[in-house]
Parts: sequence; structure tokens; C-alpha cells
Amino acid sequence: MSLTSLPRPMPRTMRPAAGRIAIATDDPGWHGAQLRRAFKARAYSSVYVKLEDCRIDLQHGIQGIVMPGFDARLPDAVFVRGIAAGTLEQVVLRLDILHALREIGIPVYNSARAVERSVDKAMTSFLLKNAGIPTPPTWVTESAAQARSILLRETVAGRDVVIKPLFGSQGAGLQRLQAGAKPPVKLPELAEYNQVCYLQSFVETGRGQGGWHDYRIFVIGGVAVAALIRRGSNWINNVAQGGRCETVAMDAMDGHMKRLAQDATRAVGMDYAGVDILRGADNQLFVIEVNSMPAWQGLQRVTEKNIAQALVDDLIARHLSQPLEAVC
Ligand SMILES: Nc1ncnc2c1ncn2[C@@H]1O[C@H](COP(=O)(O)OP(=O)(O)O)[C@@H](O)[C@H]1O
Ligand SMILES: [Mg+2]
Repeated sequence: MSLTSLPRPMPRTMRPAAGRIAIATDDPGWHGAQLRRAFKARAYSSVYVKLEDCRIDLQHGIQGIVMPGFDARLPDAVFVRGIAAGTLEQVVLRLDILHALREIGIPVYNSARAVERSVDKAMTSFLLKNAGIPTPPTWVTESAAQARSILLRETVAGRDVVIKPLFGSQGAGLQRLQAGAKPPVKLPELAEYNQVCYLQSFVETGRGQGGWHDYRIFVIGGVAVAALIRRGSNWINNVAQGGRCETVAMDAMDGHMKRLAQDATRAVGMDYAGVDILRGADNQLFVIEVNSMPAWQGLQRVTEKNIAQALVDDLIARHLSQPLEAVC
């Protein structure tokens, strides 16, 4: 066959969709629109799906699963952007849908397992420690008596302690329990924390380096691609608590911090993650959180890289592209 008789590539507009993706979210907003555009740029169509609208139906579902918008064929992959809050049973069922899809070979980005590990701060802390990643000393217990004795021991030794909700986010519900307070600091009622006490050594980030701050590193496919510093008006630096974002040029970024973020993402088994890192006294770094459904609107404002496109390209490259031998 001569070169001229080779079929010409179809114009982009006429090319059939490469596949259909479900974007799991109950609030698509800016992030959903960014993802849809990024999938479209790679010839994938995408549909927003609320996990709460999906169900298990062993008789009528496709392989037991019903997903609105995917009546004839289940999606080629699911991008998990958000899971609505609900009762324990509701959230478990929403995660079941993601687990089930994975069981039948549909890529779920990030997997239900990764989401479970990151939403649960105790498990994240355990996995970080187990992988040798520096994270502050942490104690998690259902016993108020044990928690009180840990708090007493730490504060008598002059160390502040932070109490966090096990499933919290956006800096909500955190309290700093200060050593040397008069009268001595008391453990909050565990009823405020759903009867589980998550205590962590406080890391001082307010001295030097421009005051209170932490780092948010975005990791995609094992590589740190963007970063910012969040500067809070107090020790809680989340944007939802008033933290201001400042860009960090990736080439100027501390290589050690990059590696820590990448290692932390691997330790919790995520495709992509938003990793929170604190820099304490003596420049010591601590990973405190690995988010499995991180927002990136703030980060997109301070980086030139199209983050949605990088996420979509990673999903396609590592989960949807067939190896060359299989295509031939
Ligand atoms: N151990 C700690 N020492 C000092 N500051 C902390 C500590 N843990 C959390 N913080 C501050 O609180 C913020 C929220 O904590 P984080 O564990 O990331 O929970 P959330 O899920 O609410 O974001 C962090 O970004 C950081 O600014
Ligand atoms: Mg956080």
C-alpha cells in the first residue's frame, strides 16, 4: 500500500468517542466542568453520576450494578471526584458501588480502598508510619481515660496536642490543647468527636518562614506536579479556614518534600492525591494528611499546568490504554 492510500485520520469532530467515563460527584461545579473538557480533549465522553443514585440489582443490573446514564453498558472508567456525606450505611453502599466496579475490572480513579484509607485519619497515620514516612506522634482511642492520660503526659512534658475528628476535612473541628495553660487544658467531650479520640503532637509552624503555614503538594501518577503554600491567620491553614495560597515553583521546590509527597501517595495506594506537609522546628518535615479527592481550583490559579488534563491523561495512560501487543 502506498503512503497516499493510507486512510487519513478522521477530523477530530468526526472521530467516534474513545469511551465513556463516569465522573462520580454530587456537585460537579468548576472541577466537574474541567474534567469533562479534559476527557473531551482526548475523545472520551463523560457523564456526571451521583453515587447515591446508583444501586446494586442482582437481577436487572449490568453484572449486578445499576448506574444512571449507563443503562446499556457500564462506564469504561470512573473518576471519583466526590462522595456525598450520609449515614454510615449510605456511605458504605456508595463505596460498595465503587468496590463492585473495580471487582468487575472497571478502573476506579482513586479506588474505593484508597478513599477509605484517606478519609480515615487513623488509617492514614498508621500507613504513613508503617511506610517509614515522617508523621507526628499520633494516638487514636475510644477510651476517654486513655486519651486523658496521654494528654496529661504530653502537656506535662511541655508538648501541645491537637485533637481532630477521625473523618474531618477542611480544618473543621480541630482544637489545640496547649501545655502550660492555666487552668490546665481538659480533654473535650468525646461525644463531640463521635466517641473516637484522635490526638496528634502539635507541630509549630508559626515561628519564622512568614508565620503559620503548611504545604499542599499535588501528586499525579506517582509524580509531584504542583504545590502551594497555605498561610493561615492561625495554626489551621486550610483555605476553608481563611488560608491564603501562594505558589511554589516546582523546580525550586525542596526535593525532599517532593519525594515525601510521592512516597506518602504510594503508601496509601492512590493514583492521585493532595498531600499536606508541615515544616516544623529545624526544618523537619511531617506528612499529616493524604487527600484522595483533593480540590485543585486554588492550585490551578498558581500553576500553568492544566491539572484536570494531567489527571485525565494519567487515568487514560495507566488504566485505559491497551499495551501495544494487545492492539496488534
Ligand atoms: N499536628 C499538627 N500540628 C500543627 N498543625 C496541624 C497539625 N495537624 C493539622 N494541623 C493544621 O490543621 C490543618 C488541617 O489538618 P488536617 O489534618 O489536614 O485535617 P483536614 O482534613 O481538616 O484538612 C492542617 O492543614 C494544618 O494547618
Ligand atoms: Mg488537610
